[in-house]
Amino acid sequence: MSKQTPQGGPAGEPEAGASRASSVLARLRANRSAGGANAGGSATTAQAPAGSRPAAAQSAAKDAPHPSGDNRFKLLDAAMKKHRFAADSLIEVLHTAQEVFGYLKPDLLLYIAHGLKLPPSRVYGVATFYHFFTFKPKGDHTCVICMGTACYVKGAEGVQAAIAGFAQHHPECGTISVETARCVGACGLAPVVVFDGEVVGNLTAELAIERMKGWTPNGSQ
Ligand code: FES
Repeated sequence: MSKQTPQGGPAGEPEAGASRASSVLARLRANRSAGGANAGGSATTAQAPAGSRPAAAQSAAKDAPHPSGDNRFKLLDAAMKKHRFAADSLIEVLHTAQEVFGYLKPDLLLYIAHGLKLPPSRVYGVATFYHFFTFKPKGDHTCVICMGTACYVKGAEGVQAAIAGFAQHHPECGTISVETARCVGACGLAPVVVFDGEVVGNLTAELAIERMKGWTPNGSQ
């Protein structure tokens, strides 16, 4: 069983996470207030019923960046919406969050608690109970390679091979965690890799290697 307690929350980035969560949640609450009583609706639901909105407005809303500035949260929203924001979808939503973000940061747990209308202690409790979930990057550096359809057809496999090869032959960078995701919400930038939490798009194998060279001790090896 996990040694972490539900009340204590997961380790890592508590202040930064809390700050970001406050910002994101404040925006969500503002959206909810504007939308009035809309129990069970999306955290980013607009005011008017979808059917009454012009197609262009719906399309613009769909393409608009997430209020947090990180479109990976849109995938999290979609996962919660798919499960109709049901409290018993918590584990599935946590799986999505870890797949998209690489690990569960405190701000993610708060975001999910808000979205599913659950006490944060419940979300922390479930997340810490299962060993599958992790609360900090698995290596000194992380690469989450998107292997979703858009990224795959634009060469994600080649980028993945380059990243894996670099990670294998450059132990001086420390441990590099290489993971894959099905989509990280930035399909327009395909192929995409999330390096240490930063979404980087339009990658080639060469650009990925250049990026990782910055992790070597002299920064250019
Ligand atoms: S398929 Fe890669 S970001 Fe969506």
